[in-house]
Amino acid sequence: MRIVLAPLEGVMDHTVRELLTSLGGYDLCVTEFLRVSNHQLLPPRTFYQLAPELENNGFTPSGVPVRLQLLGSQPDTLAMNAQRAIELGSHGIDLNLGCPAKAVNKSKGGAVLLKEPQLISAAVNELRKAVPKDKTLSVKIRLGWDDPNCVHEIVDAIVQAGADELTIHARTKEDGYKAEAIKWHYIAKVKERLAVEGKSFSIIANGEIWDVEDAMACRKISNCDDIMIGRGALASPNLAAMVAGISEKMSWVEVVQMILDYRKVQVIGSKGHHYSSRVKQWLSQMRRSYPEANELFMAIKKIKDREDMITALANSIRK
Ligand SMILES: Cc1cc2nc3c(=O)[nH]c(=O)nc-3n(C[C@H](O)[C@H](O)[C@H](O)COP(=O)(O)O)c2cc1C
Repeated sequence: MRIVLAPLEGVMDHTVRELLTSLGGYDLCVTEFLRVSNHQLLPPRTFYQLAPELENNGFTPSGVPVRLQLLGSQPDTLAMNAQRAIELGSHGIDLNLGCPAKAVNKSKGGAVLLKEPQLISAAVNELRKAVPKDKTLSVKIRLGWDDPNCVHEIVDAIVQAGADELTIHARTKEDGYKAEAIKWHYIAKVKERLAVEGKSFSIIANGEIWDVEDAMACRKISNCDDIMIGRGALASPNLAAMVAGISEKMSWVEVVQMILDYRKVQVIGSKGHHYSSRVKQWLSQMRRSYPEANELFMAIKKIKDREDMITALANSIRK
């Protein structure tokens, strides 16, 4: 059983990966996507900016391997940037075929490729040539654009082109993030079909895992041991450790203390508001797991200044 920390663009940067992996339970992190296009090989500094862990042999400070994710559709561009990422120390390469953002899909990246299994096949084929066999080539998909039954054709393209691993976010692009649209059972169908064909292939189930019960249900219904956790990792910071059975749920005071400590690794944004925005982003997600988060969110939602935010957080647990 493996637990993977999901890529969340604009949310799960290296500082958050550092914090969450320090709490235990994670076996792998996938970075936010790096967009590659126009037959351009990006300079090393772009890779280091996205994943400073590359300077630490591709590990977070607590020793969890980090895999760089690419987003694009030109096979040659994907391949050359994949090769560079591997040379710089990425633990494999992940290809993003799930991003639903209009701007991304318009420029032929992310989920829009789910409509074109042939293009997926060409992209994965080139990536396979660029990624050495001893490094994992993984792909992250949704079940399809609007029809989950298309998943089999998509998976066939990926498996035949030589990928090693697949993460399935169990919704279509059209499902967006609707909780009720989650379809873990489709992942079980994919597994069953591959087993009938005698193919052994690593599959990671993803989507709507917010607590230990969800993790157990997802595993059971999808028939996957391996899971990926995204928003739930923010809502409940030590969720992976709880799922792995190595720790109890953090108390609210511990959570606030953790958010306060986070300011030490956090990079101050150009307007000095970065820390405050991040705290609001987290508290908003944490409302799902901690009732106290709502009250605190309401109290701090207008604060922009970093020092004011620190004072307000500290005071909230001093009461
Ligand atoms: C704000 C946000 C940013 C995301 N960024 C990425 C990304 O860069 N790459 C990717 O493959 N998926 C991305 N995703 C999708 C997540 O990795 C994940 O598949 C999805 O949130 C479902 O998992 P969860 O319910 O555990 O969050 C993003 C999702 C959100 C909400």
